[in-house]
Amino acid sequence: MSQKLTGGQLLDISKEYGTPLYVYHAEKIREQYDKLTTAFSSLPARFFYACKALTNLNIIQYIHSIGGGIDCSSINEAKLALQAGVPKEKILYTSNGIAFEEIEEAVNLGVHVNIDSLSNLARFGKKIGNSYPVGVRIRPNILAGGNLKISTGHERSKFGIPIDQIEELKTIVDQYNIHIKTLHIHTGSDIKDADVFVQGVKVLAELVPHFDRLEVIDLGGGFKVPYEPDHDETDISAIAKKLKTFLEEHLYVNGKKYEIWFEPGKYLVSEAGYFITKVNVLKQTHSVNFAGVDSGLNHLIRPMFYDAYHHIENISNPNGEEKIYTITGYICETDTFASDRKLPEIREGDYLVFYNAGAYGFEMASNYNSRFRPVEVLVKDGQASMIRKRENFDDLLRNQVAMF
Ligand code: LLP
Repeated sequence: MSQKLTGGQLLDISKEYGTPLYVYHAEKIREQYDKLTTAFSSLPARFFYACKALTNLNIIQYIHSIGGGIDCSSINEAKLALQAGVPKEKILYTSNGIAFEEIEEAVNLGVHVNIDSLSNLARFGKKIGNSYPVGVRIRPNILAGGNLKISTGHERSKFGIPIDQIEELKTIVDQYNIHIKTLHIHTGSDIKDADVFVQGVKVLAELVPHFDRLEVIDLGGGFKVPYEPDHDETDISAIAKKLKTFLEEHLYVNGKKYEIWFEPGKYLVSEAGYFITKVNVLKQTHSVNFAGVDSGLNHLIRPMFYDAYHHIENISNPNGEEKIYTITGYICETDTFASDRKLPEIREGDYLVFYNAGAYGFEMASNYNSRFRPVEVLVKDGQASMIRKRENFDDLLRNQVAMF
């Protein structure tokens, strides 16, 4: 049975810690991690949690404790992972559009590094040469992912070294004798179709013969999770099966067994997270029934930024008579979490929960409108523990320098 926190549990936690509030469920993260490792058990696969989805140290530590590595998109994420006690061999850093100094810093930390531009690869060759095995991120020119904002492998995307520049890539590698250990792609987020991953491996398979010290094919993240109640789960076993067939027929020949790495973010933490708000005001107009909550796009930006759907429930009145509501936030611009949703009657003071809030929820939160960022709570073995305090007024003033 799928791990889930009940409305009753969430209500108790909300009353104890106050709202707005993010709650995460360790056992659900574990369930997701186990699904991945089981599905890929017959391949030499490794999983690095894309911690950009949620960087709370406790989450990083928990995922490390169940066997996961950590994928980082900035040097600070790599430092957070080290701070969380993750050994450098289990940390992967995929740079994108950054100054070369950051790559040098990552090399000094000793973590796995993927480089995403020819110019930084040349700098790497010049400065570091062949003394440090490294990965290159390739842009495979594949259009995939839930929407253009989170689609990263297509022909107009800024990410990676375009596959059509392979000759330039090889020239740099040969010039400096760079030890290419990994070929990396990440085509986007919210991918359900196994063929996208197979297509990606196909593209990389053509490059493999050019790199004789290659050990790893890194396929990035992007496994879709169900956001709407009628969405199906991504069939990870089907993806694993298709990949295995392709790898055995085309890549695992002549005794070569490249490791396959993945960088799942959403898949591990999205469904494990709940965002809970309290209804401040009801406003009935001739066309819309608004329920205004004690939060806004400053705390959960996905609906306004990506038109993302988050399922909502009224945990204070689950059996109330259903009505149609538009759920809005308190930010001073259009700030709509959901339009025309059927929900059990909402009263002022009711608690509303937003599902799938673990990934890119708190992590993309800000202090816009000078609001404090929410509390974070982790539930493990039935125990709720606060893992981040609510901010206070001093936090808003921190780092401001008085000039007058
Ligand atoms: N690896 C790389 C190199 C990435 O850029 C990403 C995500 C991942 C792995 C993890 O992707 P995931 O498994 O979480 O789909 N803020 C957006 C998602 C942005 C994803 C950015 N890169 C959202 O809320 O939908």
